[in-house]
Amino acid sequence: MSNDFTDQIAVITGAATGIGNAIATYLAERGARIAGVDIAPSLQEALAALPGEGHLAVTANIADATVAHEAISRVVAELGAPQILVNSAGIGRFGPGEELSEKDWQSTLAVNLSGSFFMSQAGGRAMLEAGYGRIVTIASQAAEIGLVEHAAYSASKAGVLGFTRVLAVEWASRGVTVNAVSPTIVDTALAREIWVGEKGETARSAIPAGRFATPDEVASLVAFLASADSAMITGENMRVDGGRSVI
Ligand SMILES: NC(=O)c1ccc[n+]([C@@H]2O[C@H](COP(=O)([O-])OP(=O)(O)OC[C@H]3O[C@@H](n4cnc5c(N)ncnc54)[C@H](O)[C@@H]3O)[C@@H](O)[C@H]2O)c1
Repeated sequence: MSNDFTDQIAVITGAATGIGNAIATYLAERGARIAGVDIAPSLQEALAALPGEGHLAVTANIADATVAHEAISRVVAELGAPQILVNSAGIGRFGPGEELSEKDWQSTLAVNLSGSFFMSQAGGRAMLEAGYGRIVTIASQAAEIGLVEHAAYSASKAGVLGFTRVLAVEWASRGVTVNAVSPTIVDTALAREIWVGEKGETARSAIPAGRFATPDEVASLVAFLASADSAMITGENMRVDGGRSVI
């Protein structure tokens, strides 16, 4: 059943806020125990506010491979092997291609691409051992379309689609699916600060649906991909973008 996650353990990076927190809430409401992994100190408080009990807050920087692997080890030791991993932690460093600093390029790749891969690698090992797992990484419309000032972000998200396809093929016969979800702009607190005024209106009018996505619209698709029902879907990139990427 897509909507019942009772007795399942879901590791969710970026669970302190935004989309990751919406996904954590959605799965917790349906019975999952959440292991939130985030660099933000507010993680503890965010996990305490989730419905249900037995959630675990792991404060960690996923861009460091050793730290990411230790985060999964801690989840396995304290909660048990996870059935679900959602990679939602991410950062955005934007600017014209000719001006983008090396620091912004490297940090974007380090968190969005390398961090998501390190978590998938460590989580995947535990899942392969158990013979069952669901990995979903939040990519972006920017993985597929050219958005100005998005060079680093776009490259990081296109990279996510690349490793998603490869891990999907490698693990398909061993019970572990690996997929990506690509939203258009999502109406989070952060997006409401960035996409204001004319810039917001222009972005909104470029989406055929005429509006931004909501965090819950992302969470419900992630939940389906995280469920047993989606067993034959792997290596996919599913868009939640109101048609933005197909015009
Ligand atoms: N909001 C949007 O419009 C939008 C659209 C498409 C894709 N996305 C993607 O969705 C994901 C979530 O975005 P959001 O809007 O919720 O952003 P957000 O900033 O609200 O949340 C991101 C979370 O990731 C955490 N994080 C950042 N660096 C980390 C690190 N090194 N280690 C561990 N945690 C770290 C942050 O502390 C934060 O809690 C990101 O991958 C983002 O690229 C967002």
